[in-house]
Amino acid sequence: MWQNIIFLVYLYFCKTIVYSKIITPDDPSTLQSAIISANQEEGLDSVTLAPGIYRIPFNSHPNANILLTNLRNFVINANNVTFLMLDNRKRGIVFYNCYNVTMRGVMTIRNDIIPFSQGYIESIDQKSFVINIHDGYPTTLDNTIYFPKASTYYIFDRNTRRLKDQTYDYYNRNIIRIDQRRFRVMFDNNLGQEIVIGDLVSMRGSGDFGIICDICELMQFIDINIEFAGGFAWFETGGKGNNRYERISAQPGPKPLGATEEPLMSANADGFHSAGVSHGPTIINSFFTRMPDDGIAIHGEYQMIRQINQNVIICMRRWAGIPYAIGDRAAVVGEDGIPRGEARVQQLRTLPDDYLSSIDSPWPHFQNNHYYFELELDTNLNGTISSNDFISNIESTGSGYVLKENVILNHRARGMLLKAHDGLIESNLINGSSISGLVMQPEFWWGEGNYAERVIIRNNTLIRCGYATTGSWTQQAGVLTIYGTGTSSVAYGHHTITIENNFFIDNDGVQMVLDGLKNVLIKRNYFTNAQHKVNNRGSDHGIDGGALVHINRAQSLTLEDNRAWCLGAAHSKPLQVTYLSTQIIGMLDGIIVDNHC
Ligand SMILES: *[C@@H]1O[C@H](CO)[C@@H](O)[C@H](O)[C@H]1NC(C)=O
Ligand SMILES: *[C@@H]1O[C@H](CO)[C@@H](O)[C@H](O)[C@H]1NC(C)=O
Ligand SMILES: *[C@@H]1O[C@H](CO)[C@@H](O)[C@H](O)[C@H]1NC(C)=O
Ligand SMILES: *[C@@H]1O[C@H](CO)[C@@H](O)[C@H](O)[C@H]1NC(C)=O
Ligand SMILES: *[C@@H]1O[C@H](CO)[C@@H](O)[C@H](O)[C@H]1NC(C)=O
Repeated sequence: MWQNIIFLVYLYFCKTIVYSKIITPDDPSTLQSAIISANQEEGLDSVTLAPGIYRIPFNSHPNANILLTNLRNFVINANNVTFLMLDNRKRGIVFYNCYNVTMRGVMTIRNDIIPFSQGYIESIDQKSFVINIHDGYPTTLDNTIYFPKASTYYIFDRNTRRLKDQTYDYYNRNIIRIDQRRFRVMFDNNLGQEIVIGDLVSMRGSGDFGIICDICELMQFIDINIEFAGGFAWFETGGKGNNRYERISAQPGPKPLGATEEPLMSANADGFHSAGVSHGPTIINSFFTRMPDDGIAIHGEYQMIRQINQNVIICMRRWAGIPYAIGDRAAVVGEDGIPRGEARVQQLRTLPDDYLSSIDSPWPHFQNNHYYFELELDTNLNGTISSNDFISNIESTGSGYVLKENVILNHRARGMLLKAHDGLIESNLINGSSISGLVMQPEFWWGEGNYAERVIIRNNTLIRCGYATTGSWTQQAGVLTIYGTGTSSVAYGHHTITIENNFFIDNDGVQMVLDGLKNVLIKRNYFTNAQHKVNNRGSDHGIDGGALVHINRAQSLTLEDNRAWCLGAAHSKPLQVTYLSTQIIGMLDGIIVDNHC
């Protein structure tokens, strides 16, 4: 029993007595109850986990390896501690309804068995390829406990070991085992010329988050590494938030036993994901690499307005529950992209499931929704808003975030995908994000809002982004993209943004795309070694991949002292401004191109 191995330690600290206890790796199955009882029964201020490897065994909980509920004002010291999760399908550590808990390492949380796999392409036959699994990596691709039958495959360059240039996401339909380590992976369409025999391959497996903070506040994570996460490595959702993450990471773990090849991936989804949190995260000095999705994503949620009756509106939601409290501010945006206004919530009421019939929405998030609720607002928006508009709790979109001095390296999708207000993005290094380095855009497709307001983007370095899993169809074409939504020519939803002192290095295609915004200062940004190769990201939307900066649907933008040098043959012009832009200052001299290196 853990009681036998606990020592009460009395530490005198700042004149207050701090009570702590020590937990050792000997009986990891009692770890969860030991931590909870230290905080809730023994009234201790902290626990210290003795250095070592804690092999966290299978348990009977449906989705958590370790579940820490209702912890308050507590510190978990875990220096030189590794948690090996033997069950790789569950959430690693779940903090639920916790307040002011610090977890401090250096600590590593790792799935003992990698929840995905990798190998190389041995042969290609039109709509399928044969993957030969690398020594030591999982060979359970046809076992639906560990891998969905239909997954997403990614192609890696065998020399650089990054996502291969100009490859895409490949959604397979089926998979058939050939022998112990070889599988035929089948797709709906013919595979393109961009894939060749010998390319490296990885894919998403099943699994869940590394660490999740669910309705928590003032959490702190310091020096915590998550390796081989089964879903997002880091996830925070709901609650007041204002959580702080310092020197955290999402990264691959060591090569598995018997392997000669280094791991290609670190997780099955994003590095860090914040959804529907009141006060956004502070993430400092952290490291995210080799995810098959975004580095850091922060957003709120849209529901769809179905009926309006004066100041009472009926909303449809994908999930049960009402994501508003009385007094919260709700923001409405039309499907055309125009912000319709804001109002405070005065009353709320749950309505029966399937209260209205579902609608045929073009946005997957709003198809087959069953949940309804009613909001009484302090303003009569009748006449201003209409059914099919989107509504969001602007106070739980992750606003107030700070992202400083982080490194995001070689992964699929966007380095940062930010949909919140009052943000500071400073001194980050984003190198090798396949779609884009930094994107701000509401996405109805996923039901994710909101527009960005009052954000500073300063002294970041964006290197070699936009090289794979993207194409002519994307709106998120710029290495830095701020994009509106909808089709209205005056949907200036984003506003009051400063883009200053950022360095764009070694990027092909368009460097900055600015759309759906007003009051923006673009000052002293530097573009170097750009546009050596043609890259037509965004061309379906009229974006010139040879322009440094593309501006559309904009009002009141200032370009000042931006400079470019060492541009390649694919460069066409410094600035592409469409007729939907007004009050643009610095059209002629806001970006100076030096033709020399
Ligand atoms: C960390 O713990 C390991 C045992 O798991 C031990 O061998 C090593 O010396 C420890 N390192 C430090 C810096 O405490
Ligand atoms: C957080 O908890 C610590 C003890 O771990 C305590 O000293 C501090 O006052 C608490 N802070 C807040 C804001 O409650
Ligand atoms: C709401 O506004 C519309 C048009 O703006 C008007 O026709 C309708 O009567 C109003 N409904 C109510 C209940 O006020
Ligand atoms: C700019 O960012 C780099 C890290 O990318 C950092 O070393 C440097 O101190 C920052 N400069 C300023 C003025 O903040
Ligand atoms: C960017 O990443 C590439 C490839 O991983 C690496 O060679 C290069 O040194 C990195 N640049 C910086 C400034 O980190």
